[in-house]
Amino acid sequence: MAIVPETDLIQPVSDPAALEQRIAALLGEMTLQEKIGQLALVPAAGGGMPDHLRDALREGRIGSVLNEVHVDTVNELQRIAVEESRLGIPLLVGRDVVHGFKTVFPIPLGQAASWNPDLIALGARIAALEAAAAGINWTFAPMVDIGRDPRWGRVAECLGEDPYLAGVLAAAMVRGFQGDDLTQPGSIAACAKHFAGYGASESGRDYNTTSIPDHELRNVHLPPFKAAVDAGVASLMTSFSDLNGVPATGNAMLLTDILRGEWQYDGFVVSDWESVRQLAVHGLTPDDRESAYEAANAGCDVEMTSTTYADHLPSLVEEGRISQQQLDAMVANVLRAKFRLGLFDDPFTDPARCPAALNPEHLQAAHTAAVESVVLLKNDHGLLPLARGGLQTLAVIGPLADDPYEQLGTWIFDGVPEASRTALPAIRNLAGDQATVHHVRALETTRSRDRSGFAEAVALAERSDAVILFLGEEAILSGEAHCRADIGLPGAQEELIEAVAATGKPIVLVVMAGRPLALERVVGKVQALLYAWHPGTMGGPAIAELLFGVASPSGKLPVTLPRVTGQIPIYYAHKQTGKPATPASFIYIDNIEPRAPQVSVGNTSFHLDAGYTPLYPFGFGLSYAAFEYGNIRTSSPVMKLDGAITISADVTNTSDREGEEVVQLYVRDLVGSVTRPVRELKGFEKVRLGPGERRTVGFALVASDLAFYGRAMRLGAEPGRFHAWIGGSSEADLQTEFLLAAAHTS
Ligand code: GLC
Repeated sequence: MAIVPETDLIQPVSDPAALEQRIAALLGEMTLQEKIGQLALVPAAGGGMPDHLRDALREGRIGSVLNEVHVDTVNELQRIAVEESRLGIPLLVGRDVVHGFKTVFPIPLGQAASWNPDLIALGARIAALEAAAAGINWTFAPMVDIGRDPRWGRVAECLGEDPYLAGVLAAAMVRGFQGDDLTQPGSIAACAKHFAGYGASESGRDYNTTSIPDHELRNVHLPPFKAAVDAGVASLMTSFSDLNGVPATGNAMLLTDILRGEWQYDGFVVSDWESVRQLAVHGLTPDDRESAYEAANAGCDVEMTSTTYADHLPSLVEEGRISQQQLDAMVANVLRAKFRLGLFDDPFTDPARCPAALNPEHLQAAHTAAVESVVLLKNDHGLLPLARGGLQTLAVIGPLADDPYEQLGTWIFDGVPEASRTALPAIRNLAGDQATVHHVRALETTRSRDRSGFAEAVALAERSDAVILFLGEEAILSGEAHCRADIGLPGAQEELIEAVAATGKPIVLVVMAGRPLALERVVGKVQALLYAWHPGTMGGPAIAELLFGVASPSGKLPVTLPRVTGQIPIYYAHKQTGKPATPASFIYIDNIEPRAPQVSVGNTSFHLDAGYTPLYPFGFGLSYAAFEYGNIRTSSPVMKLDGAITISADVTNTSDREGEEVVQLYVRDLVGSVTRPVRELKGFEKVRLGPGERRTVGFALVASDLAFYGRAMRLGAEPGRFHAWIGGSSEADLQTEFLLAAAHTS
């Protein structure tokens, strides 16, 4: 029977001192095996309760389980742990609730395109409510790796290429998952992953080596994790990857020096799936015992699914190689999270205390998230929104127009395809009796190379007034371990576009994908381009509303869209180099159309067959409204080191319809002790403006906003000149400048 002192059940965990006393008291009761048991994260049995699981729970050899979503089974797991073990320590119950539970939101990369932290927090909140009803109290999200290589399948799960945007959105997700009070029903512990640098996997191949210079690690890859830590994230997950020769799961510089020493983090660290055991596979250690030592000594508290801790920590502690203090600190980190979750007071789940999944409110939020995630990249001659009255016949062509599963995207273990609302019926519904809508799938899947469906598609296009093509990637082409060496449209999709474009009919291309795709070869053949990522349960109605103008696109790219795969890595916050390319500085070889040959005026940094600019830049996205920027100014030409300045500009909606615009602030530190990016996002605000409306948008900056790790590897702003831009993308040209003074306010 549990012997947790009764008094423990009444002291508030919100009081830090009381919390630490409760932890210390419990630690003092625990045997070595029970302590090590808290460090074991074990797969559940998918609704079953095999004897080995029951026995391990009774003996206190399990601290957390993952992948159990049958609430009755979860409650039985908790009951055994709480009522049949000696100390009655409740379990963490983990699951990858990445972009929704049953109500699926757009993939995180798509949500990032909304640039709407409040909406993203709401999505995480709803995911938490639905997951908590199944007994889950810990999600392995948000994934906050910086994604600058779209060949990498996991770019789908990340929040984009920019540290500032990813940090703001990561913090929003943490707030959404964890709520204001972790003890409340519906709040679940979040887990920032994968710490750190996973997105830099060489050649965009998952699990591959990452070689990241310290400045880049500190200035690019770590800031979103720091933002999650500052937002109170309950846990971090280590990356599979080898970071500069020391895999993250055994990397003391990351897990102890930075996370505990510099950031004073008091949550817990969990490995990734068997990544402790994989330290031997990497060749960091000779065997499981040394892997257990390296991971524990580096600061990895909980071992996910491999059992090197259970097998070898007892002897490592008895030998003193892992001290009792180290072990107690690891266990304390886990117990702290369990106390903060209120599990000791209330370990069981009553589904009735959570709202029903897929309820109208949740679906509406997913609908809004899908609308705001879509990015309008091209709209020649105002083809969009489709004028319902003027279109008698609409051709809807492609394998993704009516596929309830594929639009959900990757990492949707608990999604419900039957609840998915696809685009085809939504288009028919909105077209109503004003247009006849015909559909031809044309390709069985996005990977198919069977062109036998093309003739029917072309014939339909011939007899239609406009064509809407739904192409891209099915869900399996992105996500973990699903990387692509060529990020063009898969299968015969480019040929399908070619065939339909030959009819001369106006084409709207709607892309559903888990990554940026290289669309240079096809973008000239369509008149409008909507990038919908994998939009989730409500993707269909959202896309239909955007097509017909019921809603206006407001998404902005959270990642750069390359022209061709060979440009990768290509991102906006790049360095100047000593020989930067300019628009008139290169010649194209003749196999890339449509471009006029240019005369080379010197050797600069570009590709002969792709130039140096992306197809579409970070931060870019069109609207059915139109926005103009002017009158940029600073509150002062000089910022003191301890002062602030405000940079403002006027934004005007010059169109006759309401629209939303993400106003963005970029700065450039012209000279640094290490070279600085040509631009860095330092602020953004999503504003809704009526027809003709003008608004001043201002961004307050302080020196710490300009801080970076310089040559001395210290975080700080360096005095000097800065350029600043305000506009609707990372190519904003409305510019001002200011000086960061060396002196403090006198
Ligand atoms: C996977 C992923 C990680 C996930 C974990 C549990 O391998 O790398 O993101 O949370 O295992 O499913």
